[in-house]
Amino acid sequence: LWLIAAMAFLGYVLGSVPFGLLLTNLAGAGDLRKIGSGNIGATNVLRTGRKDLAAATLALDAAKGMLAVVTAWIMTPPDFSDYTSTVAAIAAVIGHCYPIFLGFRGGKGVATGLGVMLALSPLTGLAGCAVWLGVARLTRISSAGALSAFIAMPVVILALYGFSFQTSPKPLATVLISLLVLARHHENIGRILSGTEPRVGEKKR
Ligand code: G3P
Repeated sequence: LWLIAAMAFLGYVLGSVPFGLLLTNLAGAGDLRKIGSGNIGATNVLRTGRKDLAAATLALDAAKGMLAVVTAWIMTPPDFSDYTSTVAAIAAVIGHCYPIFLGFRGGKGVATGLGVMLALSPLTGLAGCAVWLGVARLTRISSAGALSAFIAMPVVILALYGFSFQTSPKPLATVLISLLVLARHHENIGRILSGTEPRVGEKKR
């Protein structure tokens, strides 16, 4: 049990590292909190006009999620690694959304969620990335891509692993992560429904 707690802590701390904020601050690209949606994620970094920083934010926020899962996997005996890596995955997304370093005011968990899913179930993660890119490209609304991906991934992983928690904890974890990511998008959902969600490339919200 202490291993699970330790991996949860590790995942949470890793997930808490706000790369979007760090990179934009380091590059002097402006205050993310005062730009666009005020979010700390790659989509909002893009609104600073710095594509390179947005890509780096996306990659690093995904990588910290992957790292949490892989570290938990490696550091625990095979009998437990499914459980520890799954707990680390959930903890990393919670860390990104409620970071200890930012007074618990964090992001929406899209990049980090995709990262942990790629590590936890590569097929599911790849499907999520494909849906996210496809829908974002079609609609030019980043959040619409994200919402679609986090609706698709629970379906994909349930199809792969089935419903039984005995078989694998991963489907339940995917459902929980997706519920968190969807909940963090409540403002985006409202704007999509009212037709005011900005498209990629637009400056205003
Ligand atoms: O995918 C993150 C994106 O879904 C929402 O970001 O900044 O448009 O609220 P933002």
